[in-house]
Amino acid sequence: MAPGRINIIGEHTDYAGGLCLPAAIDRYLAVAAGPADQVQVVSKGRGDPVRADSDDLRPTGGWADLPLGVLAELARDGVPVWLRLAIASEIPAGAGLSSSAAVGVATAMAALQLHGGHIDGYQVARLCRSAENNFLGVPSGLMDQAAIVHGRHGQALFFNAATEILEPVALPDDLAFLVIESGVERTLRGGQYGDRQGEAAEALRLAQRCHPGLRSLAELEASEVEALDLPEPLNRRARHIAGESQRVRLAVACIEADNVDALGQLMLTSQLSLARDCEVSTPELDALVEAAIGAGAAGARLMGAGFGGSVIAAVDSGRAGEIGETLGRAHRSHRVEVVDGAIP
Ligand code: GLA
Repeated sequence: MAPGRINIIGEHTDYAGGLCLPAAIDRYLAVAAGPADQVQVVSKGRGDPVRADSDDLRPTGGWADLPLGVLAELARDGVPVWLRLAIASEIPAGAGLSSSAAVGVATAMAALQLHGGHIDGYQVARLCRSAENNFLGVPSGLMDQAAIVHGRHGQALFFNAATEILEPVALPDDLAFLVIESGVERTLRGGQYGDRQGEAAEALRLAQRCHPGLRSLAELEASEVEALDLPEPLNRRARHIAGESQRVRLAVACIEADNVDALGQLMLTSQLSLARDCEVSTPELDALVEAAIGAGAAGARLMGAGFGGSVIAAVDSGRAGEIGETLGRAHRSHRVEVVDGAIP
């Protein structure tokens, strides 16, 4: 079983070696595994059952490609993958809550448990990311899998994607999060997510001409990014990665000081940067951020890859019910609790 995740701040930074602040949440996905003579995958509400040859796993373009990709990675490591999988999920798909990373992690753990294998949490996270990168062709970062595997009750995770080091950040009791679905489902396979990753890689390559040895644009100050004088739109993409990573550091300080309002302001600045510099927002997401602020949230921003999905709002926990109800009248909104991740 694996949880979904929220990301408090630090969006479109992980694939560029930047910083982010995710947390595992109380919405779960379960995978049951049993022995079989070939791979079979079923999932309630996701389409027809899928069958595949365990010795020749290939992407089909269908809904089951992620579990198939995870099995392909496990098979490469010598784990037997003659099995059938049944998936049940309460994490809404395409809502930016990482239902697909949860499928990956839960599949890996179910397959390993069935055959008595064990690999540590970091390896599970990396293996599942490899499945997304290699099998699905989505150049995603490690944030989702890391949060799902390592999340702990009451804690966010300060994640440095360049070093892959995670540090727990205790969340104060008076801070709560609401997730509001835009109703526009998006998939990372659509191309625009990959475009952003490619632009970030190109911006880093150009920046390394002035800063040899630079690992990530997140290591630069805003003034250093401007001084690079990168061409459009790489200048804006670089400004987003550096600025957003700086906001993650500031957000950790706000959480430690229990300053929900200051955290909210950082989330709003993040939204502006995601809309103008990273260009991953949509009119629906912009409107949801405004609606959340209008309803009394301290701050809000799009969450996940953008181009649809959800908005996350930070609210005073005493007002979470009332604000959630106001937003819920017009949209689908969930109050999410931060819970334990997949591996004890
Ligand atoms: C998706 C990816 C993550 C991350 C976010 C954007 O959720 O899976 O790796 O890049 O988008 O921050």
